[in-house]
Amino acid sequence: MSDDGTNSGRRRFLINTTSAIGVAGVAGAAVPFVGSWNPSAKARAAGAPVRLDISRIEPGGIMGPIPAWRGKPIFIVRRTEEVLDALSGMADLLQDPDSEVLEQPEYAQNEHRSRRPEVLILVGLCPHLFCSPTPHIELQPEPFDQEWKGGFFCPCHGSRFDLAGRVYKGSPSSRNMQVPPHYFEDDNVPVIGLDTEDA
Ligand code: FES
Repeated sequence: MSDDGTNSGRRRFLINTTSAIGVAGVAGAAVPFVGSWNPSAKARAAGAPVRLDISRIEPGGIMGPIPAWRGKPIFIVRRTEEVLDALSGMADLLQDPDSEVLEQPEYAQNEHRSRRPEVLILVGLCPHLFCSPTPHIELQPEPFDQEWKGGFFCPCHGSRFDLAGRVYKGSPSSRNMQVPPHYFEDDNVPVIGLDTEDA
């Protein structure tokens, strides 16, 4: 990644943070809550784990992008049964449906790319040149895809990702979006940046 690519990607992330949070509000998403024991912003940027409260994300809702783990934006989606069913029929449309080019921890190398099927946690950066994709999480036609089944669209060069962060065929990105290491302290409190409590 060149300096130019990095910097322009970061600029786009800052711009997109505002607009995508607006989208999240429409979808019924929560305001992110960061636990009180969490490290400072400086420590988080250096890689310290981050604990989030996702209790206010309703089914079908999204939180993010939140500048969180290692300063990267994070998306959290609470998927419905309808969305999970749609993921099962996507394989022919995707470049790497089984996530064989690893962009997730071992425990998330499954069709849902998550520890818990209903909760998707993604780094909100497009693997092509690191723009911030915009979430379009409803299963309805969009201008860029009349058969859209929900997911993320990168406005920079048109990469499309499904609601597991898997990239569509024909996209400039050759990789799926990254799933960060994480574990659940309880049902509504994921800790981003660690695989287990004991790590
Ligand atoms: S940076 Fe997303 S498609 Fe190029």
